[in-house]
Amino acid sequence: QKPPLIDPFGRTISYLRISVTDRCDLRCVYCMQEQMTFLPREELLTFAELERLARLFVRLGTTKLRITGGEPLVRRDVMQLIASLGQDIGPAALQELTLTTNGSRLTQHAAALAASGVKRINVSLDTLRPDRFHAITRGGKLDQTLAGIQAAKAAGLRIKINTVALRGLNEDEMDDLILWCGDQGFDLCLIETMPLGETGENRLDQYLPLSILRPRLDNRWTLSRELKPEAAATGVAPGPARYWRIAETGGRIGFITPLTDHFCDSCNRVRLTCTGTLFLCLGQEDHADLRTPLRAGASDMEMERLVRDAVARKPHKHDFMIAADRPQKQLTRHMSVTGG
Ligand code: GTP
Ligand code: 5AD
Ligand code: SF4
Repeated sequence: QKPPLIDPFGRTISYLRISVTDRCDLRCVYCMQEQMTFLPREELLTFAELERLARLFVRLGTTKLRITGGEPLVRRDVMQLIASLGQDIGPAALQELTLTTNGSRLTQHAAALAASGVKRINVSLDTLRPDRFHAITRGGKLDQTLAGIQAAKAAGLRIKINTVALRGLNEDEMDDLILWCGDQGFDLCLIETMPLGETGENRLDQYLPLSILRPRLDNRWTLSRELKPEAAATGVAPGPARYWRIAETGGRIGFITPLTDHFCDSCNRVRLTCTGTLFLCLGQEDHADLRTPLRAGASDMEMERLVRDAVARKPHKHDFMIAADRPQKQLTRHMSVTGG
């Protein structure tokens, strides 16, 4: 076993998020523009290339792989990739192989995901009302996503619902979402919108700080702090969400607050885009091109050196900001390219 990847701030990088496509079958108003130009398919890493990089990271101590996008399930034959990651790299080396999806194609794929060794998935869902779903996703059908979620549940996958809190769009639905998730046995994670990529919408209008939402939830629900199970040993929850148990439903609610209370000190992750660029932080431009050396025939040793050099440049934190009285720093890159 090789020495682990440790960044200049002492954070161990054990989590790789792999975006397999920048495409999506929805166009959420905080994520994309109505008309998006997607990358030409020949720019994408092949499954063989993705697998080689995944194996490299696993040798360097990665224990968690998350497949993201765009919408990962729109990439053709993506289940082949997931099955081979699950079976070949699989249970011995990985604590978790998982997926973040919008759920629209889960009815077709849920059983195969479970068969590939996926135990848990995160599904993006911002509302339980069909008209609002249609508006937020610019044309999506709520029924399809709900059917996908039920298929995943039936296949035995554990489910976390990701909800971006949006001012005036879904802020009055939090109690309904808490009840529904409690009823279904799903965790719920609320997320603050981040300024990534042009959407053709005003982010300031959409942005709802969770510090404003939280007291409203405290009025209605009894929340007690809970560490993620894997955090019990260290006392530090790896990753962005901070969790609370809801006494009334028995369910868990997480808060992802990049704007009002960032969590970068416990960062454990880097991101590989579908074109083979390694981004060291969701909110910064620092990156390394892995595709060019890969296609030029670099050896495993050379690739390892490139990854270590990149991790040595991981920024301390993002500096996302959404405020009326300050100039907005907006990254031009969309979340769909970087992979959430
Ligand atoms: P778990 O494995 O369930 O802990 O999920 P996760 O938070 O790693 O993954 P998920 O895809 O559910 O992430 C939810 C959202 O949290 C992402 O889409 C981002 O909006 C946000 N997020 C995840 N990681 C980071 C991060 O490193 N920095 C920031 N600023 N936001 C992040
Ligand atoms: N800010 C916050 N969350 C976002 N997502 C997509 N774009 C943004 C953004 N700009 C969320 C999706 C999904 C997850 C992968 O990222 O809703 O839950
Ligand atoms: Fe890590 Fe950057 Fe995300 Fe902060 S914003 S948690 S440093 S990737």
